[in-house]
Amino acid sequence: MTRIIALANQKGGVGKTTTTQNLGAALAQRGRRVLLIDLDPQSNLTMGWGLNPNEQANTSYEVLLNPEQGAGFAVQPVRDHIDLIPATLDMAAAELELAGKIGRETLLRKALAPIRAAYDYILIDPPPSLGLCTLNALAAATEVLIPLQTEVYALKGMAQLQHTIVLMQEINPLLEIGGILCTMADRRQRMVQTIEDHIRERYGDLVYQAVIPENVKLKEAPVTGQPVLETDPTSAGALAYIELAQEVDR
Ligand SMILES: Nc1ncnc2c1ncn2[C@@H]1O[C@H](COP(=O)(O)OP(=O)(O)OP(=O)(O)O)[C@@H](O)[C@H]1O
Ligand SMILES: [Mg+2]
Repeated sequence: MTRIIALANQKGGVGKTTTTQNLGAALAQRGRRVLLIDLDPQSNLTMGWGLNPNEQANTSYEVLLNPEQGAGFAVQPVRDHIDLIPATLDMAAAELELAGKIGRETLLRKALAPIRAAYDYILIDPPPSLGLCTLNALAAATEVLIPLQTEVYALKGMAQLQHTIVLMQEINPLLEIGGILCTMADRRQRMVQTIEDHIRERYGDLVYQAVIPENVKLKEAPVTGQPVLETDPTSAGALAYIELAQEVDR
């Protein structure tokens, strides 16, 4: 069974894209076949693999516009075992263009149906909003991975996100929260430890044991166009994502 994981948090800059790329790389390292989908007009995931969003012929935008066609035409290999459906700035128009379309939340699910069996994991990286792209990710997913930046306002927006997940379960009854991930944690700060403890008290077993540290190599990675697992495989950031992949892949 293919596991389809939507990385969701409507808060910006919490580590959705960094986690999509590096968890994807770590799962591929474990021999899993992985498809990554960039649904964000910012195209950070696409650029994260060194691709220029302006040069992509087929993107997630066309996939959502032509779901009957199946998503296969927009898939491109980026590494051994890792495929990508890239995004461009066009995606910014998709929300408006698709607003009147019937079944507009399930376009991605339809488009993935003919190709999903080719993968062990499909990771979807939506933009920071609860708009149509995120709803499409949630409708297509089997589980949600929620990255939380380990800072004072970490849980802001969680109630709204959980409410959205409950609403989407009407369309997608099997959708569940796969896990909550503490990201960008500087554990040297006592405050950060307190926040992590609070998240664990509140969400218990849903919280991954793996914690992604605040790590300069992860911060620099977008410039290199490679996941940190390639540029710096022994860095604290890479090791944390390898640990996360072990947990996810259990
Ligand atoms: N563990 C980390 N340590 C340090 N910097 C990080 C870490 N994770 C991500 N970053 C940096 O923080 C910024 C935001 O991360 P990222 O793009 O992954 O978040 P996002 O949730 O996808 O953002 P958006 O909501 O804008 O799509 C990026 O510049 C990224 O390089
Ligand atoms: Mg992002």
